Amino acid sequence: MGEHGKSAAGAETGDAAGTVAEVRVEAASGTVVETAARAAAGKAADTQTVRNARRCGHIVLIGFMGAGKSTVGRWLSRKLSRQLLDTDAMIEAGAGMTISEIFATRGEEAFRAAETEVLTGLAARRQPVVISTGGGLPVRAENREALRKLGCVVYLRVKPETVCERLAGDHSRPLLAGDDRQRKVESLLAQRGPIYEETAHLTVDVDGRTPEMIGEEILGRMDARRSADIAHAGY
Ligand code: S3P
Repeated sequence: MGEHGKSAAGAETGDAAGTVAEVRVEAASGTVVETAARAAAGKAADTQTVRNARRCGHIVLIGFMGAGKSTVGRWLSRKLSRQLLDTDAMIEAGAGMTISEIFATRGEEAFRAAETEVLTGLAARRQPVVISTGGGLPVRAENREALRKLGCVVYLRVKPETVCERLAGDHSRPLLAGDDRQRKVESLLAQRGPIYEETAHLTVDVDGRTPEMIGEEILGRMDARRSADIAHAGY
């Protein structure tokens, strides 16, 4: 397998891509791999936070390309000592090719079908995990419903200029290939913004913030289980 989207996602935020490799091994072998780098997130979350988070089920990160889903997912997985799963990495491992290769040889529809299939598999998992999703996964209505059933869906909201800055020089996203990336990002984000909002239990702004600030906000808001934000989720 050559250059892939997920290693680029790790590089884009300057973070190590170790967890993604674990995800790949896990997806390929079907065995559960304990997150090896849990100590690296600093102090573990306190017991009550871990307990509250557990009641919410899986933590599912959604949002546009470059929003930092993989990086924030890695931070949360370490903080909560949970496994991190990445839908793109699972699809790549299953297909034995990169996302770009899947788009080029099988087409976007085949990739979208693979996303739905991966989601179905995730629903069978009992142990709560952190799930980082591909940016287009909530676009299918059936996926939106499936995502919300998995647990707490968190939308990492990012501005178009931040996406362009973070993904400058990255060629692993087929939907952003070619000229006029800024326009593509703006137009896709305008279409998808309402979809992400509709799908999520929580929305967190990411521009100008570190993974730690974002992760702490997510945990804090999950802790406040009675907040109007997540009350409708029925936790
Ligand atoms: C896509 C986002 C990508 C990847 C694929 C399509 C999208 O994932 O799934 O290139 O449609 O927004 P990231 O959001 O992790 O970049």
